[in-house]
Amino acid sequence: MRTDSGQVFRLEDYKPSDYLITHTDLLFRLDPTATLVTAKLSVKRRDGVAANAPVVLDGDGLVLESLSINGMPVSDDRYKATPDSLEISGLPQEASFELEIVTRISPVTNKALMGLYQSSGNYCTQCEAEGFRRITYFLDRPDNLSTFTVRIEAKKSEAPVLLSNGNPVEQGSLDSEWHYAVWHDPFPKPSYLFALVAGDLGSIHDTFTTSSGREVALGIYVEHGKEPLATYAMDALKRSMRWDEERFGCEYDLSVFNIVAVSDFNMGAMENKGLNVFNDKYVLADPETATDADYANIEAIIAHEYFHNWTGNRITCRDWFQLCLKEGLTVYRDHEFSADQRSRPVKRIAEVRNLRALQFPEDQGPLAHPVRPRRYKEINNFYTSTVYEKGSEVVRMIHTILGAEQFRAGMDLYFQRHDGQAVTIEDFIACFQEASGRALTHFALWYHQAGTPRVNVTSSYEADTGDFVLNVEQSVPPTPAESMKKPLHIPLAYGLLGPNGEDMEVGSVEGATVADGVIHLTEGSQTVRFRGIGSRPVLSLNRGFSSPIVLKQDLTKEDRLFLARHDSDLYNRWEAINALCVEALIAASTSGSYDFDPALVQCLVEMASNESLEPAYRALALSLPTEADIAREIGSNVNPDAVLAARSALRLAIGSAARDAFGRIYDAQADRQPFSPDAASAGKRSLRNILLDYLVAADGSPELASRQFEAADNMTDRAAALSVLAHQYPQHEATQKALSAFEERFCDNALVMDKWFIIQATIPGAATLDLVRGLTAHPAFSLTNPNRVRSLVGTFASGNQTGFHRADGAGYRFLADTVIALDKHNPQVAARLSTAFRSWRSMEAGRQEKARKALASINEVPNLSRDVKDIVERTLG
Ligand code: ARG
Ligand code: ZN
Repeated sequence: MRTDSGQVFRLEDYKPSDYLITHTDLLFRLDPTATLVTAKLSVKRRDGVAANAPVVLDGDGLVLESLSINGMPVSDDRYKATPDSLEISGLPQEASFELEIVTRISPVTNKALMGLYQSSGNYCTQCEAEGFRRITYFLDRPDNLSTFTVRIEAKKSEAPVLLSNGNPVEQGSLDSEWHYAVWHDPFPKPSYLFALVAGDLGSIHDTFTTSSGREVALGIYVEHGKEPLATYAMDALKRSMRWDEERFGCEYDLSVFNIVAVSDFNMGAMENKGLNVFNDKYVLADPETATDADYANIEAIIAHEYFHNWTGNRITCRDWFQLCLKEGLTVYRDHEFSADQRSRPVKRIAEVRNLRALQFPEDQGPLAHPVRPRRYKEINNFYTSTVYEKGSEVVRMIHTILGAEQFRAGMDLYFQRHDGQAVTIEDFIACFQEASGRALTHFALWYHQAGTPRVNVTSSYEADTGDFVLNVEQSVPPTPAESMKKPLHIPLAYGLLGPNGEDMEVGSVEGATVADGVIHLTEGSQTVRFRGIGSRPVLSLNRGFSSPIVLKQDLTKEDRLFLARHDSDLYNRWEAINALCVEALIAASTSGSYDFDPALVQCLVEMASNESLEPAYRALALSLPTEADIAREIGSNVNPDAVLAARSALRLAIGSAARDAFGRIYDAQADRQPFSPDAASAGKRSLRNILLDYLVAADGSPELASRQFEAADNMTDRAAALSVLAHQYPQHEATQKALSAFEERFCDNALVMDKWFIIQATIPGAATLDLVRGLTAHPAFSLTNPNRVRSLVGTFASGNQTGFHRADGAGYRFLADTVIALDKHNPQVAARLSTAFRSWRSMEAGRQEKARKALASINEVPNLSRDVKDIVERTLG
């Protein structure tokens, strides 16, 4: 395990390597405890590098078996091998030579799930970011592009299926027991995109014909018996391939594309060239076991990994500081795909809710870092919501600033100019500047400056002149190691609503660049004057959430209700009602008095009943801000118990006021058709299930939820009913009965048991900690499987405000103990889990002190991994 050495990696220290590995020939002789890896590397000294410069290769926990150059063993005095590096000197005078390295590794004992490991008896690899160095010594950095030929030898009984990157070349039998396969990937790639899978797997197959008429063989490999569960993923893959051709002109390049689902996986999925490896949670689905959210995630992640083929693989990152180059851009692309496949406004609202729930707290807490960080101790800790989601928002802003056409021209130039290269954010931005002829120098600060910008807007209407005047101020609060902030280029899409609710014509504007419905802020303080406005307008600002900012406006309650009813921008209609709810909930939780404005309740009921809005949208309007949302808006001295009480009171007030209307809509949305996962059907279910939550609250009885639970013919409705039962009536007999029935029915399905864990881990209240502790001993739970850990412990820590932040600090203690235990075998997941502490300073004083103690107790453990040490130290600040 890599412990903390105090080493910090800095962007400004980037230096190309002295040598390149241009071709990599690998031979794997697979064995659970003693796999032999023979790497034949074509090494090339770069021009201008002295002939006596040593080759220094990365390793991680490796044992060297043998070493030769151009077929001759290397004498002991010419190399130094440690588990973490291999340095060879006295190299041939010629600029090119062949290096052969043999290492021995043990996949079965690899519980960190990086490098080559076993999952359910199948061999698989995960190499991003620095896992390849756990397989062989290598230039394990993304700017070393190498072609790969891979020969896998394995026992036929153990691994009938042998897969690697690229195209299949050859396969055959070695003797009665062993066989082999050879794969060749002609596209030069960095080592993080290497993959190998070998095992006894079932599969489904299909084909895709690309825009230029080439046929691609598609395969999805899963555990035997699960083949039918992969058909939705296959369909999503084909739709992704078509969409990328139509939208971005990106055509697939190999003759095969394979996906493998594994059950032990540290993250969502991985875009290895031609051989994506997935967490099975994001492949397997049928109506019995998967929710609508699962289907949507599968579609999005299949697309995401596929899209990486161009944004990540054909064009990759020069170094890991550039991670957002591939991730932010690819998230943007998968968001656009989902918006096109489903509903654009619904998708946008979900994105913003997610951004605020995950990225905002990161950007406003001790782990804040720029979209392109300048330093790191452990790169695995930078696969963050800031790099991914804020990275995507930055690309979206480029689209907003340039418009669709120039944006596409910039992308085209990027693909054309940098295909086959490892590049930087500067290279990326230059393409948009050149293609559009517009300067993005100021805009680029979004990549370099951490923190969520605050924009404060006050407005006045001058009736005598017909001027509508905005005073706009922007600022970015200080973040760790960055106290001085500069104003950003913030594109604010906007509209002015007239008294009839329609957008007014806007004449001339002074004080800022305004074009195509977008105000471009560039200064700390600006006055924007709209001329010739006939009557006082209502301002709809940051439409579509055009910039990822915290916006404070001087809108009145009536203005917001007006926007919620009339804004032509559906995103801002939702934002208006959401802002009203947040405001009401903050007031209620700080005052403890729960008399909610009937006008707010009335507006929500209207939106729920408005047939001109699609059901999924109406469901979002009715989804109250979460406890974490409210806590974040309160910002400091948070008492989670008061927040929960206020939220429950508002739910009850709305449910009671609208009991009859909601009951009618609930009945009307019932689907008499056979289950279909399409967006429209899913939207109906989401509306019905949010209404169920209100109805059960208003009824004061679990009856309706029990009925839905028993009648459900799909997992969406079943899990929603179980969740309402457990969260509203945790002690009720009906809940206990439903939980047991669910457990009995699905105890053999690990992914479904995850839902059972999640529902229980998120039951509000102090008592849940003991429940969660008890569940860690459940036969379906395992500390070595990341999905189980995330479902039970991760969800408890990040999704249960009153449970995790228990006043006595026992929730913090529990998380600390779990992080310490997990760190011994899986540092990456342990580090991710420990980020749940990041908002500890926003709690009231008593809880803060207890959280600090729990963090300090982790920090004191000897031999902590570099991963956990880095997070804990930064969180303590
Ligand atoms: N590149 C993968 C993706 O599609 C994720 C890899 C995550 N790696 C890690 N070390 N956390 O987003
Ligand atoms: Zn990605």
